Amino acid sequence: MCGIVGYTGKEQAYPILINGLKKLEYRGYDSAGIALEQENKIVVYKTKGKVSDLEEMLKGKNISSHTGIAHTRWATHGEPNSVNAHPHLSASGKIAIVHNGIIENYDVLKDTLIQDGIALKSETDTEILVNFIEKVKEETGKNLFEATQLALKRVIGAYAIVLMDIDMPGTLVVARKGSPLVIGLGRDGDYIVASDASPIIEKTKTVYYLDDDEVGILMPGEEMVITTLNNERINPKLTELDLTIEELEKGGFDYFMLKEIYEQPKSVYDSMRGRINTEQKIIRLGGIEPYENHILESDRMIIVGCGTSWHAGLVGEYLIEELARIPVEVEYGSEFRYRNPVIRPRDVVVGISQSGETADTLAALKLAKEKGALLLGICNVVGSSIARETHAGVYTHAGPEIGVASTKAFTAQVTVLLLMALRLGYLKGTIDRERYEKLLYELEKAPELIEKVLQTDLQVQQIARVYKNATNFLYLGRGVNFPVALEGALKLKEISYIHAEGYPAAEMKHGPIALIDENMPVLVIATKKGNYDKIVSNIREIKARKGKIIAIVTEGDKQVAELADHIIEIPEASEELSPLLATIPLQLLAYHIAVMLGRDVDKPRNLAKSVTVE
Ligand code: G6P
Repeated sequence: MCGIVGYTGKEQAYPILINGLKKLEYRGYDSAGIALEQENKIVVYKTKGKVSDLEEMLKGKNISSHTGIAHTRWATHGEPNSVNAHPHLSASGKIAIVHNGIIENYDVLKDTLIQDGIALKSETDTEILVNFIEKVKEETGKNLFEATQLALKRVIGAYAIVLMDIDMPGTLVVARKGSPLVIGLGRDGDYIVASDASPIIEKTKTVYYLDDDEVGILMPGEEMVITTLNNERINPKLTELDLTIEELEKGGFDYFMLKEIYEQPKSVYDSMRGRINTEQKIIRLGGIEPYENHILESDRMIIVGCGTSWHAGLVGEYLIEELARIPVEVEYGSEFRYRNPVIRPRDVVVGISQSGETADTLAALKLAKEKGALLLGICNVVGSSIARETHAGVYTHAGPEIGVASTKAFTAQVTVLLLMALRLGYLKGTIDRERYEKLLYELEKAPELIEKVLQTDLQVQQIARVYKNATNFLYLGRGVNFPVALEGALKLKEISYIHAEGYPAAEMKHGPIALIDENMPVLVIATKKGNYDKIVSNIREIKARKGKIIAIVTEGDKQVAELADHIIEIPEASEELSPLLATIPLQLLAYHIAVMLGRDVDKPRNLAKSVTVE
């Protein structure tokens, strides 16, 4: 939610900042802006729209500078126009800020500024923050760094901020609470800071993940200083990034989303890599191993997540209850955190999050921690806030996911949940040896099977052509494939803007059946395992109402093939594996429809990949 970049050093700041913004655009693309330090002044350029619009605007302008900050916005306060776009300047024009997050007590801070007669230009909480910092600076006679420490003690909310000040040329001041900020330490003593590591990787692999309530000052060629808000010096623990530039590029695909769909054989493999001992038939999840007894003795697991990660949680509920016989509840982070949930010390709370930064999931976990639960994380981004907040966890290792609509992160989450369910079932003795070994064998084969499902792409594209102008879609599944139906509907909604609903197939009778007519495409996951006969009956019910049926079936299926308007075959596999396979055609269908409708697949309107506000 909003991407920020800052650079100070020997090189020209503009190309580094603009390329950095492009990498962070998945975090928001309502407006973009840049502030550059030039001969004793700060010049700011900003515009509504995307980073490319900003680039266009800057053609022919003097952009020479060695220190600057930049921002790509997902609007929270105020409509997305150029006035509300970041960077914001303080009233004197001396201090510039970029901010990701929300200042909750902005109205209190605003009152103090209004009393001082400060005129605000925008409707943003960020402009209030920069003016409040300037006010503290002027009143106390401190420098920007010290004034930021003092001011932030009075700020309630979430922020990652980067500031620059004409009175401190060549210097960046950074701070964080609740929203991510990474500092890259360049070889030449230069610094590049950003919301995630992607803009940094080209310059350096040595980074520091700023922690909550930390403030830092960065001056080229000088040692970085990190302190608490009380000015206590912190010894920053540096991390070496395990990322390559290739991983962050489209690699010949038109969109990141398509690239990421096609990466799934590899990402699913990577999420299992080193975790299965094929000869001994043993699964090892190193991160949670020390807590396994605790988990086995727990009363229940509560999985929390948002969006696609919540859907993975629902698959996890099915898998863990079925294989390990541990009761599981799945909660939206946003609901859980605000409804005084019953959490006991013998509960294990599992946070699932691709980004590891989703504000509601993070807050739900913090609440559970306060109540004494053991916290586990299933995150994709290494070193993310959720990964650090939890007691232990399992990384999904799907690699960077750039497309806003999640694809490979989902299948990696499901893979990790299946590994976890199998491991716990094995330890608990709730799964017999034969079934355990069969599932393990199939899981190891999953990358190959996914590869095969990807071969249905052309066929899915043809189906997309038939239904691209539909205004509604229904997605149905049963058992472990019910969450897959939810996920399929979400993908279509997110990127094509076609209304779609996912439903448990049998629940169709209790409402959605009223919507079915000859114009309603209904996508049904009807694989051979699981409640096949029941789903065949559901298909007949749709057929009787003239609905158009697109069915995901097991290879060689005859019965559904006769009833459906279109079938997409996936390889035969145990029911527990089917979400990994059935999801793929649904991702492709959403993708092709969105492309045919001319949508911006990687940056769908109003969405952001990393939702760091509640
Ligand atoms: C946003 C994204 C979704 C994602 C959800 C949860 O809404 O657009 O794709 O599923 O956040 O994100 P997380 O990083 O916690 O998995």
